[in-house]
Amino acid sequence: MHLFSSFKQSHRLLLTVVVVLLCLLIGPVLAVESPALSTQNPDTVIKQLTSEFQHALPVEIKANGEVKRFELVAKPTVAGLIPPYQLPIWAYNDQTPGPVLRVNLGDTVEVLLKNELPQATTIHWHGVRVPNAMDGVPGVTQAPIAPGDSFLYRFIPKDAGTFWFHPHQRSAEQIERGLYGVLIVDEPQKPAYSQDLLLVLDDWLLESKNALNENFVSRHDLSHDGRWGNLLTVNSKVQPELTVRAGERIRLRLINVANGRVFAPQLPGLSANLIAVDGLPGQRAVPLQGLFLAPGNRVDLDVVIPSNAGGQTFNLVNTLGRKQQTLTAITVATESAVTTPRFAAPKAQQFPNWNQALNAPINHEFMLDASSGGQYGIQWTIDDLAWPHNKSLSLKAGRFYRLRFNNRSPRLHPMHLHGQFFQLLARNGQAVQEGFWRDTILLQARETIDIGLVPQDRGRWANHCHILEHAAAGMMTMIEVK
Ligand code: C2O
Ligand code: CU
Repeated sequence: MHLFSSFKQSHRLLLTVVVVLLCLLIGPVLAVESPALSTQNPDTVIKQLTSEFQHALPVEIKANGEVKRFELVAKPTVAGLIPPYQLPIWAYNDQTPGPVLRVNLGDTVEVLLKNELPQATTIHWHGVRVPNAMDGVPGVTQAPIAPGDSFLYRFIPKDAGTFWFHPHQRSAEQIERGLYGVLIVDEPQKPAYSQDLLLVLDDWLLESKNALNENFVSRHDLSHDGRWGNLLTVNSKVQPELTVRAGERIRLRLINVANGRVFAPQLPGLSANLIAVDGLPGQRAVPLQGLFLAPGNRVDLDVVIPSNAGGQTFNLVNTLGRKQQTLTAITVATESAVTTPRFAAPKAQQFPNWNQALNAPINHEFMLDASSGGQYGIQWTIDDLAWPHNKSLSLKAGRFYRLRFNNRSPRLHPMHLHGQFFQLLARNGQAVQEGFWRDTILLQARETIDIGLVPQDRGRWANHCHILEHAAAGMMTMIEVK
């Protein structure tokens, strides 16, 4: 008995020691993995996702005291897209693309816009986190700027990266006619690329070599994926040639400014890594593969030209559609190779994984659809109503939200949020981790996507399809951040 009970006691002791040790070892792992999150109450999940967001995107930016002043004159002009023909267009400062506004992070940007167009206009700073009053949405954040009038835009961009600007008044016509430009905000420590090149992708619907088709927001465009042109241009040139040297490491900034066309860019034969989407660096650089560049989207690529590539030509191609199209040719000079700059590809200093995000409740589901009616006969709706008849969604600043977009139509919708960056969480209910922030996400036909965001800046922010014809026919609503 005595022996037996002491055996039992020591056995118990051993068991206790093992259990305590196991708890010590596994405990912290369990705490991080939170296996029971799905059964946790939603407030706890939201709190955790919100706290993961801390410091990912700065709430405020310190002004460095520099003011960069620009003047933009919007007016009719001509462009030589297909020399020697001259095409009547509208442009900023007679240039298409408009001037590149280049500033440093922390600079105050002041842009005086003079309207010399035959109609009212505004400028929206696509992807730039600006004070709401500078966002350029007519009738919401400012009055339209009448012909002959001017307006001063003033803001300090909060993020470094590749951005663009365009009218938000009759955008389907004004952007198509050539009104757009690029804003580049340089990082405090600019990565040492040997060249930093900008490729603005557009298409134009021409009637003839010197006439634009002026049937804007046509029935055809409305019942399809917007207006797709018959002439592809890069920086408003047809297949321009870039010259590089072997060994160079190049930053390529691609922007899709087309009304409706989606591009699927590829660089066969070259190593190209995605280092930024919609302006912002991601969790890590990833190879360029299967990427859709929808209207509004930007990507930055890190491209290395092999040191033995002298004399070769590589093409940037659009692989969307049945026939691959060459967008631009990259010709490598025959001179001797330069030394390839070595540095770590840019990435976000802090990037929330949000891998628990699908345990958070869906705060709102936007229903995207079409119906007959409205001024064009076809209207594109969000939650069954066309802008300006739908009601805005109200969100609180500083907490995590999961929003769903449900495309009930067989068409494409690149949905764009003003004033916010979000992460794609799921497609058709399946978790996705892109590792990048976005301001515009393409929905395929009949697709449902979930996004996660923590709104920061207060105000009324547009939420719309960046197929400009769809937006013109009602596919826009407001998100009010309080
Ligand atoms: Cu570039 Cu409201 O859009
Ligand atoms: Cu759309």
